[in-house]
Amino acid sequence: MKIQFQPSTDNADTICFPVSKGGLDSANITLAQSDLVRKAAVTARFKGNTGQVFDTFVEENDKPVRAILLGIGEKSADTAERDLEKAGGALTAKFLTSGVEELTVDLSGADVNGEAASSLLSGIMLRAWRHDQYRTKLPKNQRPSLEAVNIAGADDALQAAWPVHQAVAEGVALTRELVAEPANVIYPETFVQRCQHLTDLGVEITVLGVEEMEKLGMGALLGVGQGSVKPSRILAMRWKGEGADDKPVVFVGKGVTFDTGGISLKPGAGMEDMKWDMGGAGAVAGAMKALAGRKAKAHVVGVCGLVENMPDGNAQRPGDVVTSMSGQTIEVINTDAEGRLVLCDALHWAQEEYDPEYVIDLATLTGAIIISLGHEHAGMFTNDDGLADKLNAAAKSSGDPLWRFPISKAYDKLIDSPIADMKNVGPRGAGSITAAQFLHRYIKDGVKWAHLDIAGMVWADKPGPLWDKGATGFGVRLLDRFIADNFEK
Ligand code: BES
Ligand code: MN
Ligand code: ZN
Repeated sequence: MKIQFQPSTDNADTICFPVSKGGLDSANITLAQSDLVRKAAVTARFKGNTGQVFDTFVEENDKPVRAILLGIGEKSADTAERDLEKAGGALTAKFLTSGVEELTVDLSGADVNGEAASSLLSGIMLRAWRHDQYRTKLPKNQRPSLEAVNIAGADDALQAAWPVHQAVAEGVALTRELVAEPANVIYPETFVQRCQHLTDLGVEITVLGVEEMEKLGMGALLGVGQGSVKPSRILAMRWKGEGADDKPVVFVGKGVTFDTGGISLKPGAGMEDMKWDMGGAGAVAGAMKALAGRKAKAHVVGVCGLVENMPDGNAQRPGDVVTSMSGQTIEVINTDAEGRLVLCDALHWAQEEYDPEYVIDLATLTGAIIISLGHEHAGMFTNDDGLADKLNAAAKSSGDPLWRFPISKAYDKLIDSPIADMKNVGPRGAGSITAAQFLHRYIKDGVKWAHLDIAGMVWADKPGPLWDKGATGFGVRLLDRFIADNFEK
């Protein structure tokens, strides 16, 4: 779906007017029959609440015109940005498969314009994303009809700001694509291929193959991949924006392209969900696309640990001891706690290679985080209160919510092993925290680190305000905002 600016609503037959809460009387409904539209909206209990949509047909110059009123909520609420996005999403949700092919949003005289209105456009664009290409028999009336949303009356500030926001939405779309594709399509090598186009945006790409990783001693990551016929990869994407000479911020993503559990095999029911066990890597790739797409003035590296976790004659066994690149040894108690094994080598390599001040990893790491937080927040674990504040602020303003959990020595000792430096699982309790403690053992002194357990956020079983059911793209907007607010001058 395209979003395009237009000077006016002339000749439009489907026109949407944003209306703030309680603002129906003063809304600039540029139609001859605006009073009729207003009265009809009152009858239908339209109040301008966020995401409320009312539509009716009126006669304009002897032709029928569909007039849509879109509620955008309170004008100056703290949540105005969120409200506008939601409103945009609601508009798309209502008309995406309605038969309407093109609609025009009239911003002339509306309560929203300027950079703020980018949020409305973002919502429109994000909610339109679908992954339908394998549904060859989908009836026409269930396919998206909406091809373009025209924005009339946009001021210069909005037209200047939109490309930046559009780049972020394109990053989200890449993440969703990577997450939504099945594991026979996206595996380590094809994940890398789908990110190659980032070089066109100026991203420098480095790929490590199995032999290189063997030489580097990445026994933990390679141990996970050794049961798969798909060779493991590390993908690094480096973006150095104009004027950014500082140490890079490094993002690290868990990219388990399919997680069967390995020899500690998962139960069959619901196992198909494990195609999205690369959601952390997907978010990192999408964030890099967003940052490069909007030419962020920052130095950022995204590193993805890409493996497939399969049971096989050559798969690693429970009880195996592996040596990670850092030299620390790990007793693999459970081959299904594989994400931390992948991340520990990716984290160590990233710190050696890029010498960052900040490292943030994203991973669909534990089922336990879903027990704790459901699908409303991702879990945040960090060794630095200042970083926690920065991430919390970015979470609030981006709409990708986080909730902080504790880490401490007491949790750390729960993963001590009698035969190696550590084991890859702790006791039943605090499963998300012991997973974070495991990663913490790979963070160098002085590095500010946060781990985001996004297992509950990557996939949605039902549609949300900004996504259809399926891949949400969680994390991209969070990381983009975190960089924009803290690392760009
Ligand atoms: N990828 C899973 C975590 C997960 C579960 C993500 C459900 C999304 C939905 C991870 O690799 C895993 O299997 N974790 C185990 C850890 C356990 C063996 C300590 C878990 O959460 O059960
Ligand atoms: Mn697992
Ligand atoms: Zn996993």
